Amino acid sequence: MGVLNGTGQPPGIGRDERARQKRQRPCVVWFTGLSGAGKSTLSGLVDRRLFELGYHTYLLDGDHLRRGLNQDLGFSHADRAENIRRAAEVACLMADAGLIVLAAFISPFRAERRRIRDLLPAGEFVEVFVDAPLAVAEQRDPKGLYKKARRGELKQFTGIDSPYEVPEAPDLRLPTDRLSAEQGRDSVLALLAQRGIIRAAGA
Ligand code: ADX
Repeated sequence: MGVLNGTGQPPGIGRDERARQKRQRPCVVWFTGLSGAGKSTLSGLVDRRLFELGYHTYLLDGDHLRRGLNQDLGFSHADRAENIRRAAEVACLMADAGLIVLAAFISPFRAERRRIRDLLPAGEFVEVFVDAPLAVAEQRDPKGLYKKARRGELKQFTGIDSPYEVPEAPDLRLPTDRLSAEQGRDSVLALLAQRGIIRAAGA
């Protein structure tokens, strides 16, 4: 029988215990940037590599969450703030459970991004600015959304008629117009190793 605490309930399992069982340091790697900047590609590559290395990870993506948990939300300032608040809460729960969480959201507002950092223990939030100039993201336009936004068929599109607040002090900035996706992935992995979140390559 386990030891009971003052409430008569068995003591909960602490986040450190869960992390230790997984033999990893949980964290949330948050990819922010314009639509088409490369967040999904990059976070997917990082997720795949960490998974292959034996880490327990999970990938949260704006497009994906907006089909389920956040399907009631649009793209007004208030709805985007709520979208990010929910995504951040989910990411934090997953980190509590011991996972390394990759999160890819435009997350255009500084205040919301700061709140995520504040939700997590020091050092467990890693902000990656996926930085492509608007002209490059618009040129790529993988979903044809910039074209629609320019035609006025899509309102409140980030970078067109809705703001993107550039991170002032991201943990990592990746200029994806000058780096390959694989180079970007390797930079993220190198940072995680440097921060002691994963083992250094070859260690
Ligand atoms: S966020 O601004 O609230 O962080 P999120 O990352 O969840 O956005 O979703 C962005 C995705 O929604 C884009 O990749 C794009 O596919 C789609 N989308 C649809 N309408 C818009 C819009 N008005 N602005 C930006 N993205 C949009």
